[in-house]
Amino acid sequence: MDKTILITGGAGFIGSHVVRQFIYFYPDYLVVNVDKLTYAGNLENLRDVEHRPNYRFERVDIVDPVAVRKLFEKYKVDGVVHLAAESHVDRSISSPMEFIYTNIIGTVNLLNACKEAWKDTLDDKLFYHISTDEVYGTAEGDSFFTESTAYDPRSPYSASKASSDHLVRAYHNTFKLPVVISNCSNNYGPNQFPEKLIPLVIHNIKNMREIPVYGKGENIRDWLYVIDHARAIDQIFHMGVIGETYNIGGCNEWKNIDVVKLLCTILDEKLDRKPGTSAKLITYVKDRAGHDLRYAIDASKLQNELGWETSVDFEKGLKRTVDWYLDNEAWVNNITSGEYEKYYERQYKNR
Ligand code: NAD
Ligand code: DAU
Repeated sequence: MDKTILITGGAGFIGSHVVRQFIYFYPDYLVVNVDKLTYAGNLENLRDVEHRPNYRFERVDIVDPVAVRKLFEKYKVDGVVHLAAESHVDRSISSPMEFIYTNIIGTVNLLNACKEAWKDTLDDKLFYHISTDEVYGTAEGDSFFTESTAYDPRSPYSASKASSDHLVRAYHNTFKLPVVISNCSNNYGPNQFPEKLIPLVIHNIKNMREIPVYGKGENIRDWLYVIDHARAIDQIFHMGVIGETYNIGGCNEWKNIDVVKLLCTILDEKLDRKPGTSAKLITYVKDRAGHDLRYAIDASKLQNELGWETSVDFEKGLKRTVDWYLDNEAWVNNITSGEYEKYYERQYKNR
């Protein structure tokens, strides 16, 4: 194998698509999926590729420095694509500490392991940190987030991601660790855990359950199909300039309520329901605390410098996503039995 690449969080939503991208396009790389398998990690996401000769799985909690060190002793690591994180804003409001441990301490453990492993040579090494547009706070008026927008994180989740971004830059500045960072907008697509808006709405519509829309549904998100994010990560990993940051976004802003209504229309059609049936499930509930109004990414640096562009338009991507959830009932049932119902009850009962 030419290189050994650790992909952390590879059993999660975006991570599983990145693992597949690297396994298929780089058969000469050994791809090691490093994941603790929290509630959000699911090896079912990778069933189709787990037999590939260039794939390994290591169950490791990145918060444990000894386990991380052992991992770096076992493999001669050339690159890290770091996605492992606690990723759901609502959970960061109800229990922030996991976010501090995994997103901040876990990231520093990986940085320390790379610094130690690469102390003789930094040639051809890279630590690639995957971050979020939420570090920039809420976009005022018609403005867009660029790579030089000042950080203004406003939830425990985004503050923990901002903190990890700063640490990654600090290790580059202080120890010359070769790093690159990208900050991406909201992803959607197959394999997303149904605690996030789009898969939760699909699941609820299918089961004729109320659709909880926070506040007035006027918050705006910039949606990107997950495979376009995985392609961007591939390009940045191979072509990005060390020390740089790249924003990734779909240039596709939607109010939440409009996304929900579009999903209702798509599902009425797919489930052979009378038009308007699913929209009756829409229920406005208490707003998320500190709810950011608008995220909007300017991805022109990535487009102009690395030639990346989106390949899937939103309606097509949503229909594909709905089809995937309808066709993968067993995947959904495994996830939504047991713990999920308890989470749902806690999260939505008094709203
Ligand atoms: P996810 O919650 O679906 O997956 C996270 C994965 O990390 C899971 O497999 C989980 O088991 C693993 N993990 C969690 N804690 C761990 C630990 N201590 N040690 C090892 N593994 C651990 O998340 P996602 O939505 O796929 O997001 C992946 C990354 O992309 C995150 O860093 C997130 O901040 C970032 N991001 C997400 C989005 C989005 O819209 N989902 C957008 C931009 C950036
Ligand atoms: O912007 C990138 C971020 O996008 C990522 O960094 C996060 O990991 C990812 O979770 C996502 O954060 P959001 O908070 O924007 O995603 P979520 O799907 O939770 O919510 C999208 C919007 O929908 C948000 O405005 C809140 C709203 N919402 C969400 C849920 C779960 C509802 O109205 N009802 C709901 O039940």
